[in-house]
Amino acid sequence: MRDSIRQSFLFDLCAIALFSLCAPGPCPAAESSGLKPLRLRCEYKLNPLGIDTSAPRLDWIVESNERGRKQSAYRILVASSEANLAGEIGDLWDTGKVDSDETIQIPYAGKPLESGARCFWKLMVWDNQGRPSPWSAPATWSMGLLKAEDWKARWIGLDSPLQSLDRKTYLALTMLRNPFKLGFGKIYLPSPHLRKEFKVEKPVRRATLYATALGLYEIRINGARVGADYFTPGWTDYNRRIYYQTYDVTSMLRPGANALAAILSDGWYAGNVGGRGQRIYGSKLRLRGQLQIEYEDGSNEVVLTDQSWRASCGPIREADMQAGEAYDARLEMPGWDQPGFDDRDWKRVDLTESVSVPLEAYPGIPVRKTLEIRPIELNSPRPGVYVFNLGQNFAGWAKLKVQGGRGDKVTLRFAERLNKDGNIYTLNLRSARATDSYVLKGSDVETWEPRFTYHGFQYVELTGFPGTPTLDSITGIVAHSDLRITSSFESSDPLVNKIYLNTLWGQRSNYFEVPTDCPQRDERLGWTGDAQVFIPAAAFNMDVAPFFTKWLVDLEDGQYPDGAFPDVAPRVAANAAAGWGDAGIICPRNIFRFYGDKRILEKHYQAMARYLQFLTQRSPGYLSPPLGTYGDWLNLSDPTPGDLIATAYFGYSAKLMAQMSAALGNTGDAEKYQSTFENVGKAFTERYTSPNGRISGDSQTGYLMALRFGLIPQELRPAASEQLINKIKDRDWSLSTGFLGASLLLPTLSDIGRTDVAYRLILNTRYPSWGYPITQGATTMWERWNSYTQEHGFNTPQMNSFNHYAYGAVSEWIFTTLAGIDTDGPGFKKIIIRPRPGGGITYAKASYDSIRGKITTHWRIQGSRFQLELTIPANTTATVFIPAQKPEDVFESGLPANKSPGVHFLRMQNTSAVFELGSGAYAFTSKGH
Ligand code: BGC
Repeated sequence: MRDSIRQSFLFDLCAIALFSLCAPGPCPAAESSGLKPLRLRCEYKLNPLGIDTSAPRLDWIVESNERGRKQSAYRILVASSEANLAGEIGDLWDTGKVDSDETIQIPYAGKPLESGARCFWKLMVWDNQGRPSPWSAPATWSMGLLKAEDWKARWIGLDSPLQSLDRKTYLALTMLRNPFKLGFGKIYLPSPHLRKEFKVEKPVRRATLYATALGLYEIRINGARVGADYFTPGWTDYNRRIYYQTYDVTSMLRPGANALAAILSDGWYAGNVGGRGQRIYGSKLRLRGQLQIEYEDGSNEVVLTDQSWRASCGPIREADMQAGEAYDARLEMPGWDQPGFDDRDWKRVDLTESVSVPLEAYPGIPVRKTLEIRPIELNSPRPGVYVFNLGQNFAGWAKLKVQGGRGDKVTLRFAERLNKDGNIYTLNLRSARATDSYVLKGSDVETWEPRFTYHGFQYVELTGFPGTPTLDSITGIVAHSDLRITSSFESSDPLVNKIYLNTLWGQRSNYFEVPTDCPQRDERLGWTGDAQVFIPAAAFNMDVAPFFTKWLVDLEDGQYPDGAFPDVAPRVAANAAAGWGDAGIICPRNIFRFYGDKRILEKHYQAMARYLQFLTQRSPGYLSPPLGTYGDWLNLSDPTPGDLIATAYFGYSAKLMAQMSAALGNTGDAEKYQSTFENVGKAFTERYTSPNGRISGDSQTGYLMALRFGLIPQELRPAASEQLINKIKDRDWSLSTGFLGASLLLPTLSDIGRTDVAYRLILNTRYPSWGYPITQGATTMWERWNSYTQEHGFNTPQMNSFNHYAYGAVSEWIFTTLAGIDTDGPGFKKIIIRPRPGGGITYAKASYDSIRGKITTHWRIQGSRFQLELTIPANTTATVFIPAQKPEDVFESGLPANKSPGVHFLRMQNTSAVFELGSGAYAFTSKGH
């Protein structure tokens, strides 16, 4: 079994290597001494366009090849032109030399920036010996449309009579079409195509396109797609706000006639969302865009969406994010998105006079294609039916390559697993039709991929294929929010390696515009509970700051008037639940933990305070009645009482709120929330804890919450810890936790000094365990410990996803404890390096590219010798724990550790020698491990 894990691990490694070819790469190592400023970013993005916060935050990293380098000062120049910047004229902002070691979250404080302003910037830094660096490479950002009046364009579309039906009548109609198979009788309309020609008569200095839609849009100029983003403008509560994107399209314009064109599709706005059916926000698709052209001579021109555009429908006959896309290539309109196309028989566009929802710049990172996957296997379980195995479960779609006769129709269906007979298993997709189709125009080889749908799958079924397909007929396209991957991990144990990779794939598949629960069935919602348990693991794996900057707005938009946070965001259902709504506290806290981001705390502070007030009001005597119905969702016959969960999360949220208030300097609030936390702790102890450490309900999760959230007093912890261990032992050294408990399990075991048990659980391959699904071929995390078992086969199709990231929360422990990388306070300015080897693992090698640069650890055990190579970025310090009996047993680069430059021995702590060090690369050995 371990061999097959190893094989698929290699596959994953190749995939990751491929992926990093297209991701913005890591920074090259600094060659000279002193410091080098690199990776200049604005609002967490490299050279972003269309920022609409008035004081965008800047950050950079510093690199050095010497130990102990710190930044002592910086000087930032922001100029309104490249020429000014090159001439060192910071006409927008020149900070002068600022004595500061800060490299992150630095708010722009120069001249006020107007709509569309372009900012060119660079900086230099001084190290702790006062040596200046050279100027950094230049970077840029631009401002978006800051005032509502900046939007002159109108909302345009092409309506069919069906679009004017109200939602109820429409739903009734779909029922009539298919009363028994709800979801399959739905009507999908063709995608409107919109176009307009315009002339460019003078040399262009710069052209910027601002675009948004009700529905999804793809915008094109002169026959080419603008940008690489998919599913724009993104998912929000469209009744609260709509985002727009900004593109620099200067190079796409040409002298003379030009064409601006767009395709619209239902998307979240009008399509199927979360099992709630279609049209939950609206039905009339609209595009709003303006192309602002600045000519070399200083004059300007704007091309707007307005009544002069023409509209028609084309080859996309149906497009829905869950149902799939139907394309008829015979209906293509060659040249429709280029100048000179004859659109006389196209229609006039339909207009919506005003949409009273604010337009804001998109704060996240859009979904993009990130990787292509070649199938590894092709079978034909029945005549004419072909099934491709892509070897990896993921979110995205398939590119089809086919040659055949005009009118031949190829149908593609998608699935995560196979039935025993080799046919695809689709029951667990529920009402998601997940079917694409392509009708050939009958030319040479035709290649096609959809634009407006995605599926969660490992297998693709082809029917209607003319001839016999080959492995080359299908290519998997992986798509997700294109966040920078920031982690790597490898150890001597292939199972743990695979758990890490499955977690990463779970994240790739579900960090899809919002943190979705799953990518395959008719759900795909931003479940808050799943998001909160997973966020620490997620933040190790990817740079999630911009993703949560966006999603926390969705979450606040969904807050109920009484202060409760919803269980899904954007909110499409009316529920709130303990452990779910707490995402409104836990997620901002983690963004602060990983990125030192105080602005996100300030931004959501009032909402968080309302939530705490809501919890307080409903909890007389600091005990909460149950909230919501999920409990410790999907636990294995080991339920935790609902009131205990609600009280525990009340305490935990109060504790985190106290920390966040303190970080913002709100001392009064910090004291208030701290005392709430303590009172909840007392009430919890009195109500639920016996002197022998037993917690009511006697569930694994109950103990985990009491211990991990710090709810019970010090003196009860040993007894409660023992009870927890007994509970695990009772289950034959297995877990029985659900969504809430699983995320706490290994960190708590390490907290209470039982890392040995944590290893026992993570290395387990018997059901139930993280390892068991891997023995069953899992390439992602499953929704249930028993989504499939050899004994019982598939679990209930109603609720059985093979790509749910929640249990991937375990990856946090892999980084903090197995690899030993953690932050000490906000934003990795101070770092803890504390690998805790165990479980017979002989080496582990990990990296985390933090907001301050890359941190790496690589430990090995050879007999009783422990070796640790580590690097920490310039301008940070680390506290390092080396397993040893005494400090003299520890060496660094061949010298006794405490004599080694930049290394200071602090203390012995249990069986570790603890050192403090400055930045750089170190190689420790310890003989007394
Ligand atoms: C989702 C979960 C979610 C749960 C709430 C499910 O349908 O898939 O991930 O947390 O509902 O109980």
